[in-house]
Amino acid sequence: MNVLGIETSCDDTGVAIYDSNQGLLINRFSSQIDIHKIYGGVVPELAARDHIRKVMPLIKSVLEETKLKKSNIDAIAYTAGPGLVGALLVGATIGRSLALALKIPAIGVHHMEGHLLSPMLENETPELPFLSLLVSGGHTMLVDVQSLGRYSLLGETRDDAVGEAFDKFASVLGLSYPGGPSIERCATEGQPGHFKFPRPMSGHDSLDFSFSGLKTFAIQTVDKLKLDDQVRSDLAYAFQDAAIDALVVKLKRALKQTGYSDVIIAGGVGANKLLRHRIAELAQQLQVKAYFPSLELCTDNGAMIAYAGYLRLKAGFSEELNYAVYPRWSLESLEPIHSEAIV
Ligand code: KG4
Ligand code: ZN
Repeated sequence: MNVLGIETSCDDTGVAIYDSNQGLLINRFSSQIDIHKIYGGVVPELAARDHIRKVMPLIKSVLEETKLKKSNIDAIAYTAGPGLVGALLVGATIGRSLALALKIPAIGVHHMEGHLLSPMLENETPELPFLSLLVSGGHTMLVDVQSLGRYSLLGETRDDAVGEAFDKFASVLGLSYPGGPSIERCATEGQPGHFKFPRPMSGHDSLDFSFSGLKTFAIQTVDKLKLDDQVRSDLAYAFQDAAIDALVVKLKRALKQTGYSDVIIAGGVGANKLLRHRIAELAQQLQVKAYFPSLELCTDNGAMIAYAGYLRLKAGFSEELNYAVYPRWSLESLEPIHSEAIV
């Protein structure tokens, strides 16, 4: 069974084909960074317009590259939420219409379920149940992945997502968008100990996060300073250190609380080398295994949508022709996928 996956929830257009026999055949995306860069963040209307321009050419190119015909596609999975409504509607409308024209089923996939299951596309896969740390520009959450489709939210951010905080602080420092990689690069020249930023909520018992206090503290610090390259690097260092610390403290607590031996890290912030290093250290300390999906599966992509859609279709989920998108959609409201149905 070949499933075409379409991801358009935010600022990356992703298209992929998952083959239930051979695995992932192709995973391509088109980034919108250049479009949103000058605004320092994603502009929803521009995101939706660019998805309109990119989805069909990307679908054509993945078919050409895999030498598949439209008639070789057995089903279409598209991101139905959560995300930006206009952006979601592009993928949903194109996915649904193509499926109608090709007389094949289509299914709307929960974007976060896609992220949670993306490590299953790697050679080395975690064993269920496992813990997942999802860290991106829109989300910061710790999820207990009990079984396929059964997810329990252990903690999430009460305000800004960690990636969003990186993006906003980077723009205050005059660094380019997206802010995460810029701050990481700038921090390599930073000196430890020049600035000390707070680790919000780290003393708090809950597994929730908060990043707006750190962001505000960091911005107020900048306001009192004259920025030069060294000061900028020192600030980037202190910010990255505090943000990563806040994530690792909660991850440690969640691992202890669940007693799970596998943890996966997904989302764009998962590319951060300091985060990876600190989690690897923690994993060794607690004798657990940490999985870092490859970058192309870590950030928004069509492969995870194709795969999650495949699992649901195979387990008997189906949808009617009329469709909707869900800009806000609780992960815990999903129906379990009975794995006996998937072979
Ligand atoms: O998952 P993603 O590509 O898109 C969504 O937000 O869904 O994540 C993008 C976010 C941006 O906020 C970006 O600044 C952050 O991930 N990011 C990083 C790094 N690379 C990307 N944050 C910290 N360090 C990085 N190396
Ligand atoms: Zn995402």
